Order: sequence, then C-alpha cells, then structure tokens
Amino acid sequence: MNFDTPITIALSKGRIFEQTLPLLAHAGIEPTDDPETSRKLIMDTNHPQVKLVIIRATDVPTYVQWGAADLGVAGKDVLLEHGGEGLYEPLDLQIARCRLMVAGAAGATLEGNRLRIATKYVESARRFFAARGQQVEIIKLYGSMELAPLVGLSDLIVDLVESGNTLKANGLVPLEHIADISSRMVVNKASWKMKHGTVMQLLDALQEAIGKAA
Ligand code: PRP
Repeated sequence: MNFDTPITIALSKGRIFEQTLPLLAHAGIEPTDDPETSRKLIMDTNHPQVKLVIIRATDVPTYVQWGAADLGVAGKDVLLEHGGEGLYEPLDLQIARCRLMVAGAAGATLEGNRLRIATKYVESARRFFAARGQQVEIIKLYGSMELAPLVGLSDLIVDLVESGNTLKANGLVPLEHIADISSRMVVNKASWKMKHGTVMQLLDALQEAIGKAA
C-alpha cells in the first residue's frame, strides 16, 4: 500500500489493540514496538507515513474530533457516550463485540420510580430510561459496576456484557438489552476531506480484512 499523505491512527491498549492489529497488518501496517511492553505513546510503523498514538479508550473520539489523530478505533459504547461530534463513523470493524445491558439481582425488575442506576455509561443509560418515560437517578462509576447492587449503592446497573460470566459470578442477571457494541473506525471530518485518498485506501483494505475474518 502506498499512502500519499501522512496519517495518525489512535488506538487504545489491550483488547482493541490486539484485535485491530491483524486488520492493520492486512493493510500493510505493522507497529515497530509492542504497546504492551513499550511506554511510548507515539509509535512508528513499518510505513513511514503512518503513526499510531496509544491512548485511553475513552479519549479516542476526543483526539480524532480535534484532529490530533486522523482516524481512531473506538468502541460503540464510548462513541455513544461521546456523542460523535466532529467524527465520521464509516466502518464497523466487528471486533470487541458485546452488548450494553441493564442488569440486576435475580428478581429485580425495571419497574419502579426513581430507580438508582449505577453505570459508567451515563448518557446511554439516561437516553434508555428517558425513552421509556422513566425517571431514574444515575450514579456515575468508573468500573466494577457489578458491585453496586450487591452493597445497596444502586437498584440496577448498565454495563457491557460479553460472556455473562461477570454478572453470573456476582449473582446478577441480564434484564434488558440496550445496544449491540463493537469497535468502529472513526475519522476526523477535516481529514476525511483533506486526506480522502489515503483514508479511503486504508478503509478499503480494512473492509477487505474484515470480510476475510468473517
Ligand atoms: C467489562 C464489563 C464487565 C465485563 C463483562 O469489564 O464492564 O464487567 O467486562 O464481560 P463478561 O460478560 O464476559 O464477564 P472490563 O473487564 O472491560 O473492565 P471495566 O471494569 O473497566 O469495565
């Protein structure tokens, strides 16, 4: 692949990085360092025109929105919270798939007034209950949401469910599906125009890689 413009791609460490790597490799892009062992935040690739920036998953849309990265890989959960301002979301990478769900203790229901909902996904939870015409109190947490109903912090949680093992291990059950989640490639709106050829070349190669992986 022969990119004619320099591009920067924002990625987060862990699952998204691991699962994006084979897709990027298909596009001829391979990082020169391992982000799991390297402390470097800007990573070169085998391609002189392509750099990777390694950031927190929740910061990916912000970097791309402000043009600090041309493209980025972000979970739909993160994008729903961010709102997607300043971004295009042209490609579902179909990786890191899971579901955003309401969950609670066995026997819990969504009925009731002023239910307390503990979640990292404040915007998605707010929208979901507002669409049901239900007033709830949202308690913002940053992780380990499953603990909240166990210690009386909340009635329900809104969290990501993949295998369901974390819910089960804590005696909780899934109650209601909010959204299917997977990672998306997002593109800065100005980069989409100014670097269109390069961006499209990369998106086409990724699309082909997704097709082969499916
Ligand atoms: C996520 C999510 C659940 C768990 C679901 O947590 O918040 O806790 O994975 O997976 P499962 O259904 O396969 O058990 P993650 O490990 O990403 O950490 P977090 O606490 O930062 O959300």
